[in-house]
Amino acid sequence: VRVPVIAIDGPTASGKGTVAARVAAELGWHVLDSGALYRLAAWTVLDNNINANDIAAVALAARRMQIRFDDGQIMLAGQDVTELIRQEHVGNLASRLAPAAPLREALLERQRAFRQPPGLVADGRDMGTVVFPDADLKIFLLADVQSRAQRRCQQLRERGLVPDEQAVLADLKERDFRDTDRAVAPLKPADDAHQLDSSRLTVEDTVAAVMSLWHKRL
Ligand code: C5P
Repeated sequence: VRVPVIAIDGPTASGKGTVAARVAAELGWHVLDSGALYRLAAWTVLDNNINANDIAAVALAARRMQIRFDDGQIMLAGQDVTELIRQEHVGNLASRLAPAAPLREALLERQRAFRQPPGLVADGRDMGTVVFPDADLKIFLLADVQSRAQRRCQQLRERGLVPDEQAVLADLKERDFRDTDRAVAPLKPADDAHQLDSSRLTVEDTVAAVMSLWHKRL
């Protein structure tokens, strides 16, 4: 049987992850945080002193990663790396590695393997364009860079850190540029994506908007 997919793409800190998890919970579906796979690849590179410029080595290491996602926990070769891969320097390296086609290719089948009954909500940059081009619903979740910077700072505070707001803003702009500008699987809405601007929406409103689009299409 064909397993339905909702693809949620958008820039860094647009709230995709939270919205995807809530929508999946409401539907009782699986969820794929594809950014976590890029972060896991970055973590693997750092942890094993792999030369980040040696793309073949990076892609090979990514293929060999032993990953387990269970209940919000991310295990890599038996180690709980859930928090470790959320660190800013890991996300930064992930965004620098992400343009490499061999790495994206190495992660492609792994991402598609998440498509299991009764359904999948997948979030990332290229879910609707490359990984699940036949997705049943495609959302492009936007938010202006100021709102995203505020959310990112809030997340950092919740983790007990003291964010430098200007640095967070500059970092987001740089990641936006890298994700949008790359040749392979750039961040852009699929032709059939619904654009949703969450700048002035709460998480609940955003989830409700996605659910309403889903029910309307049935
Ligand atoms: O979404 P998150 O910030 O965790 O992703 C980390 C990095 O991985 C992003 O900055 C982006 O460059 C990359 N990524 C990607 N394609 C995806 C998901 C994430 O290129 N589908």
